[in-house]
Amino acid sequence: MIEQIDINSMFLIDQTVFDTPEHQARLAAYEAEKAKKRQAEQCRRIHAAKIPECFFKPYDPAYWPAGWNAAQRFLASWTQGERGHNLILSGASGTGKSHLAADILLKILKRGSRVYWLNTELYKTMLMDGINDPHSRIRALEMFQKALRAEVLVLDDIAKKGSHYTDGKTTSWDAHKIYLIAEQRRSKSTIITCEWDLRNREVVNRLTAATVNRLEENGTKIICPYTVPYLFARKYREV
Ligand SMILES: Nc1ncnc2c1ncn2[C@@H]1O[C@H](COP(=O)(O)OP(=O)(O)OP(=O)(O)O)[C@@H](O)[C@H]1O
Ligand SMILES: [Mg+2]
Repeated sequence: MIEQIDINSMFLIDQTVFDTPEHQARLAAYEAEKAKKRQAEQCRRIHAAKIPECFFKPYDPAYWPAGWNAAQRFLASWTQGERGHNLILSGASGTGKSHLAADILLKILKRGSRVYWLNTELYKTMLMDGINDPHSRIRALEMFQKALRAEVLVLDDIAKKGSHYTDGKTTSWDAHKIYLIAEQRRSKSTIITCEWDLRNREVVNRLTAATVNRLEENGTKIICPYTVPYLFARKYREV
C-alpha cells in the first residue's frame, strides 16, 4: 500500500525554533556584524574621500548662521544625479569655512554619494614634487581625476594667503585650475573655500570671465562671513 504524504506539511516551519534564546542570540550577533561592516565601509569611504579628520567633531551652527543656513539649503536642494550647484565659502582664516564644507561633505557621503576633498595647496605640492618624483606625479594625477569624478567636490583653500606658490594672489595657475574644474564639473556640485571676498568684482575678474560664467551657470551661491569678528573666529583655533 502506498502511504499518502501531505506535501504541505513538509514545508511547515516550526515557529518555536525562532523563539529560543540561542536563535535570538545568533540573530543579534548577525545584526551586530552587519552594522560593524556598514560602519567599516563608511570609514573606508570617508578615508578615500580625504576629508580631514580634524573636522569630524560637530560643527556649531550658532557661530556663523548665514553659512549654516546656506549649507542647509545646499543639502536640501542637492539630489544625486541631478544638475549640481556650487557654493563658495569665502572669509578670513579661522572663520570655519573648511569645517562647514566638511560637515556638508560628510552628510552627502552618508547618503551614499561619491564625494572628494581636494586641498589645493597639497595638490600644488604634489604637482611641483612630481617634476622630479614619479610617485608624486601619479598621486597628483589621481587627485585631479578623483576631483573631476566626485558628485560633490570640496576645493579647499584656493589661492591661500601666505602660500609658497601663490602668496594670496589668484595666479594664472589657480585661475586655470578653477576654470578646468568649473568646465569639467558643469553638471556636478563644487564647494570652494577661499580667503577672498568674491563679492569684490576685481577678484572675480581674476578668475577669468569663462570660469565665472561656468560657476554662475550652476547658480553659485557666495557666502562671506566678514561680519564675523576675526578675534572670535580665532578662538576656535585655540580649542
Ligand atoms: N562653527 C564651528 N563649530 C565648531 N568648530 C569650529 C566652527 N568654526 C570653526 N571651528 C573650528 O575652528 C578651527 C578653524 O576652522 P577652519 O579650519 O574651518 O577655518 P577656515 O576658515 O577654513 O580657516 P583657513 O582659511 O585658515 O583654512 C577648526 O579647528 C574648526 O574645527
Ligand atoms: Mg580652511
